[in-house]
Amino acid sequence: MNIDQILERKFKLSEFRHGQREIIESVASGNDVMAIMPTGGGKSLCYQLPAFLKPGITLVISPLIALMNDQVRSLRALGLGAGCVHSGLNEAEQQRISSDLKERKKNNSSYILYMSPERVQKKGIAEWLQKQAITLFAIDEAHCVSQWGHDFRKEYSQLATLRKSCPNVPMIALTATATPLVKKDIISHLKLRQADQHVYGFYRPNLFYQVEFCEEKTKDKRNFVLQAVKQTPEGRIIVYCGTRQKTESWAELLEKENEKVGYYHAGLNAADRTEVEKKYARGDIRILAATNAFGMGIDHADVRLVMHTQMPGNIESYYQEIGRAGRDGKDSTCLLLYSKKDKSLHSFFILQSRASSKIKLNRRQALDAMVQYSEGGECRHSDILTYFDDEKRIEKCGHCDSCSPKSDRMVARVEAEKPTSALSKKKQKEAIFSAELPEEAKWRVDVLKEWRKEYAKENDIPAFMVFSDKTLRDLALKAPTNEAELEKVYGMGEKKIEVFGSAVLEKLNP
Ligand SMILES: Nc1ncnc2c1ncn2[C@@H]1O[C@H](COP(=O)(O)OP(=O)(O)OP(=O)(O)O)[C@@H](O)[C@H]1O
Ligand SMILES: [Mg+2]
Ligand SMILES: [Zn+2]
Repeated sequence: MNIDQILERKFKLSEFRHGQREIIESVASGNDVMAIMPTGGGKSLCYQLPAFLKPGITLVISPLIALMNDQVRSLRALGLGAGCVHSGLNEAEQQRISSDLKERKKNNSSYILYMSPERVQKKGIAEWLQKQAITLFAIDEAHCVSQWGHDFRKEYSQLATLRKSCPNVPMIALTATATPLVKKDIISHLKLRQADQHVYGFYRPNLFYQVEFCEEKTKDKRNFVLQAVKQTPEGRIIVYCGTRQKTESWAELLEKENEKVGYYHAGLNAADRTEVEKKYARGDIRILAATNAFGMGIDHADVRLVMHTQMPGNIESYYQEIGRAGRDGKDSTCLLLYSKKDKSLHSFFILQSRASSKIKLNRRQALDAMVQYSEGGECRHSDILTYFDDEKRIEKCGHCDSCSPKSDRMVARVEAEKPTSALSKKKQKEAIFSAELPEEAKWRVDVLKEWRKEYAKENDIPAFMVFSDKTLRDLALKAPTNEAELEKVYGMGEKKIEVFGSAVLEKLNP
């Protein structure tokens, strides 16, 4: 059978999702593969399907028992040979696996065996593996090998032992976390050989991306939250909050004007958490204020609005959280509200943490990227694709606040009220976002935008990573004529000045 026939006959699916065919073909031709696809993108098929191209065992490493059980259940439901071994296995299940494997050997058929990373390090496993007909190693959630990732697992970092036991078996590593650093770490820890790298699926054309800067000590955030909910009369809504306490206060506020509101955070006891999850699943809760503790393994098709009331600490987490919107492919909105305080809060936590200085530096850089994304660049979808190094590139999406500021999908800004406390002159100047630029600065905005676009394209980096809109506006306003003046511009650090300071000065002073 070829891969199209296996897809139809074994997996009962009619077509591949974006990227699956390319990845499967690469695995089939014996390459080591590094595959990155966002949550829900369809990574499992990329190692499950090749299992049926030739007889033998595909050994899958997965970090969670619940995940393994789920996958084995659905493979068995399709009538495909699969099982898992981990510490929680009961006697009957153990026997089933060993008779499955005997059967497989007799029939010379295919089998997908899931194994916990702890099990791989157990005595005798290496010898056992050498005696089996292993055709492929698949390392799922491979970011766990990297200490830069968000779920570092020691046993994962030792998985190179697989390579040592069976040097000729190809390996595929899969994850949704796409930072270049994590990718590099995975490839080196797992000793992938000339890894064929694939990044797919970060374009979500049904999502509308919008980011709004909210002034401290005003009702900006509150107005946006209420307005966004008002504009979303149907489907589920997730309101992500930075702290446990905030989930409760936002829920309280929302409850005044809405029905079916709830909140969720890790401080609730297990019974309460399960109760909220059930209510949300049943639809008894439609609007849920939650910390990032909510989400793992929760997959509802009709989330129409994902709103962040505080800026997350990095683009990877942010992307993962907004990825819960519009799973059914229907129009949905992702609104990020951020204020100046959000950044200092994250900075504070990084400073306080006991991580090594290298990890701290890495987190600080990730935070800077998140801030710059929030402060704006070119098309948000386009910038995201470039940021994650997706195979796909677009110029303008037509469904983000940057491309379509007049779209009726935009959450409307409720007429700005006077700040509750008068802003000082200095503060007013800092509010570069809301302030209208003087006439003579406007041409500079255009010149700088044009230059940024070209530079970003040439270097294949997102526009916001060159410099954000906030920096761009400050450049236009301050109109620096030399390096010393450039240093005073918001967001122009030493490095940026070194890389393109002179080019910018030239543009501004023709
Ligand atoms: N080609 C396809 N056609 C239809 N449905 C598919 C296809 N490929 C995968 N799916 C379905 O998409 C869902 C998500 O797939 P999968 O669990 O493999 O995602 P994932 O990329 O591993 O996500 P996560 O990062 O959450 O683990 C599953 O329900 C799966 O059955
Ligand atoms: Mg998966
Ligand atoms: Zn766009």
